[in-house]
Amino acid sequence: MCGIVGYVGHRQALDVVLGGLRRLEYRGYDSAGVAVLDGAGALRVQRKAGRLANLEAQLDADGRQTFAGTAGMGHTRWATHGPPVDRNSHPHRDASNTVAVVHNGIIENFAELRTELEAEGVELASDTDTETTAHLIAAAYATGETAGDLPASVRAVCRRLEGAFTLVVTHAGVPDQIVAARRSSPLVIGVGDGEHFVASDVAAFIEHTREAVELGQDQVVVISRDGYEVTDFAGEPAQAKPFTVDWDLSAAEKGGHDYFMLKEIEEQPDALANTLRGHFHNGRITLDEQRLADQDLRDIDKVFVVACGSAYHSGLVAKYAIEHWCRLPVEVELASEFRYRDPVLDRDTLVVAVSQSGETMDTLEAVRHAREQKARVLAVCNTNGAQIPRESDAVLYTHAGPEIGVASTKAFLAQIAANYLVGLALAQARGTKYPDEVAREFAELANTPAAVQKTLATSEQVRALGREIADSKAVLFLGRHVGFPVALEGALKLKELAYMHAEGFAAGELKHGPIALIEQDLPVVIVMPSPKGRAVLHSKLVSNISEIQARGARTIVIAEEGDDAVRPYADSLIEIPATSTLLQPLVATVPLQILAAEIARSRGYDIDKPRNLAKSVTVE
Ligand code: G6P
Repeated sequence: MCGIVGYVGHRQALDVVLGGLRRLEYRGYDSAGVAVLDGAGALRVQRKAGRLANLEAQLDADGRQTFAGTAGMGHTRWATHGPPVDRNSHPHRDASNTVAVVHNGIIENFAELRTELEAEGVELASDTDTETTAHLIAAAYATGETAGDLPASVRAVCRRLEGAFTLVVTHAGVPDQIVAARRSSPLVIGVGDGEHFVASDVAAFIEHTREAVELGQDQVVVISRDGYEVTDFAGEPAQAKPFTVDWDLSAAEKGGHDYFMLKEIEEQPDALANTLRGHFHNGRITLDEQRLADQDLRDIDKVFVVACGSAYHSGLVAKYAIEHWCRLPVEVELASEFRYRDPVLDRDTLVVAVSQSGETMDTLEAVRHAREQKARVLAVCNTNGAQIPRESDAVLYTHAGPEIGVASTKAFLAQIAANYLVGLALAQARGTKYPDEVAREFAELANTPAAVQKTLATSEQVRALGREIADSKAVLFLGRHVGFPVALEGALKLKELAYMHAEGFAAGELKHGPIALIEQDLPVVIVMPSPKGRAVLHSKLVSNISEIQARGARTIVIAEEGDDAVRPYADSLIEIPATSTLLQPLVATVPLQILAAEIARSRGYDIDKPRNLAKSVTVE
């Protein structure tokens, strides 16, 4: 949520910053802005409501040469305080136009800070929480103990702030430095040759360097052309963790596709293979980081999966596997509900926190709550070194590569696979599965990339169907067992991308309400279980389909190849490869992603950047 980039080096900062913002636009896209230090004591700022393209057009009109300078920063916004209009766009400045600030997160005590500033006669030019920090930093730099010292001024202000924030600060009088601070929101440093970067995400600078450093909680970094220096908020030297980005620029480009999401759907076989790779060694499942003894895993007597959005649906799928393999009770809960309930947690509870970004605020707070209650936390995450894995006892990374489309696709499938690895690791540690059974389950998982590849061959058929039903008023999705979370995910994709009313239901609930929604020609998507694997459920679903068909609905059936029994009930039949029961979500979800993307495309929407959404939600 909100993309941030800062640069000091030997290139024109405006070009580097705009290049970075283009790669960060998925984080928020309701306004954008840049600030460049011209080296002669002047700060040039431009900002514009709407997509980044609006800002670029304005910069062209202004004349880009008037933004010459080798230090600068930029921001792409997802509005929290104040509507997305020019005046609320970042960077924000102090009254003398010497300090500029960009910010991600929410400053919770901003009302108090605002009142204090207004009492001192400061006139605030925006509705944002961010602007208060620009005035406070300018004041700290002007007088008192921190006078003339930008890093010290930023640290002093950070100590006063409550909430979550990443701040990047420039001062016209310090043209060769950029100062950035972080609490609970992400920030990475890019280390180049004679140039340094700060950004919300490595994607912003991957074009220039793959050497990165992860800024820790409550740390401040000063970047210059020749180096970077990290301290804590008190000014003491602090350690930040260096790492090398294990993907390159091509992974963050569209690669010939119109949209990132379409590329990401096609990358799913690789995302699965990369997630599984290296996790089965000498007959044993291994995690990426384990700061827990095997005995701790043996002592676990209850599992919670906490997550948001698609990640939550991956948890719903995992419940079936973990309960079955480990004989442990598993509760799956929306992170935003979990921490405000009073969940019963102790040191024998394992909380699995699933998050693509590793920075979703609700999930992060759920992790913190769980740890306060002494529960063990295992993170399943797609972003190296993000806050959630940093604060967890164990980590399993989904190596799906960067996911730029706002609606999750490849990260979702990778989360299901990773959650299954967690289940197998638990079964192995607890002895509820013999080693040869774990090996067999892993071997089946290892076949799923090929099955997903085969499923992608249904694309043309699914897209044609999408175009046919694109004008429908609503679409319903039904499933049973692991097909139920698949139905929920199919409905979520359609809501997110096509702004269409879509609901997923457990098919068994049909007669308890949803059947009242059935009307002539309403598209209903049904995820069929395998006729061999789950024969009882299969016949129950066939009955459900005939009930809705009898009431005039248009049935779209996702079924295993060779499932002839369901054929007479399917107005449209999409065949997916046969898999074992628990692995079916990995293939059955794929046509639903393609369907949602095509419906959205037919309706003329930007499927990478759906309205009102952002990819990583760093506010509660
Ligand atoms: C947002 C995204 C979803 C994602 C959810 C959780 O709503 O649009 O695609 O599933 O956040 O994100 P996380 O990064 O925690 O997996």
